[in-house]
Amino acid sequence: RPGCTQIPVVVHVVWKTAVQNISQAQIDSQIEVLNRDFRKKNNDVSNVPAPFAPLAGDARIEFVLASTDPDGNPTDGVTRTETNKSSFGSGDEVKFTAQGGHDAWPRDDYLNIWVCQLSGGLLGYAQFPGGAAATDGVVCTHTGFGTTGTASPPFDKGRTTTHEVGHWLNLRHIWGDDGGGCSGTDFVADTPNQAGPNTGKPTFPSVTCSNGPNGDMFMNYMDYVDDDTMVMFTEGQIARMQACLDGPRSAIGK
Ligand code: ARG
Ligand code: ZN
Ligand code: CA
Repeated sequence: RPGCTQIPVVVHVVWKTAVQNISQAQIDSQIEVLNRDFRKKNNDVSNVPAPFAPLAGDARIEFVLASTDPDGNPTDGVTRTETNKSSFGSGDEVKFTAQGGHDAWPRDDYLNIWVCQLSGGLLGYAQFPGGAAATDGVVCTHTGFGTTGTASPPFDKGRTTTHEVGHWLNLRHIWGDDGGGCSGTDFVADTPNQAGPNTGKPTFPSVTCSNGPNGDMFMNYMDYVDDDTMVMFTEGQIARMQACLDGPRSAIGK
């Protein structure tokens, strides 16, 4: 599809303590990161090593906080819910009002983003296309959301949500989720085969699976490096996200 696709977003803030009830500024900072990262407007794309630079692309996807709620009433695109849950795991409780969270808005009209206290150091998780409507969307811990407020280094550049929205648009981890072997794939041709996840701030080149001389594309949003080290999607990943918008997520991509 030519041009840009605008995705309406609802952010469900689910909080127990006051700090978990993040500010509008923190939410806005995350939306701004998404709009930079998915349009290749992030300044740090200049950190992509020269051999990989021609592969970095503009995903042509934009995000806007919803202005109309599911009942047709005006909204600022944010819901706020007080909960008695100290933290949430990856079991989707945050996605249900009856379980201390907030029910999803219809996925054909909104990208649902839940922000809460996740447990055990979990930064975020996402549902791929094809899953249940009631649990569709992404979840992010408040300390890994946006660039201000409670966002904490090294996960304070909003890249957890960029990564999770990549999954929501059908991107796999760049290493192919094969537990460190060289047989897994992310089903994208222009990302090098790599063994397992990279973390922290690797230095280029980082060679695995005989992928020299350039090595792993650890600076890709779909690796596990620090927020300030992940800076690009490839054209192949973008083709896969656009295919998702033309296919399983065509309703929201209208
Ligand atoms: N653990 C999460 C996932 O696999 C996200 C990791 C995000 N990494 C980051 N540097 N923000 O979906
Ligand atoms: Zn992931
Ligand atoms: Ca692998």
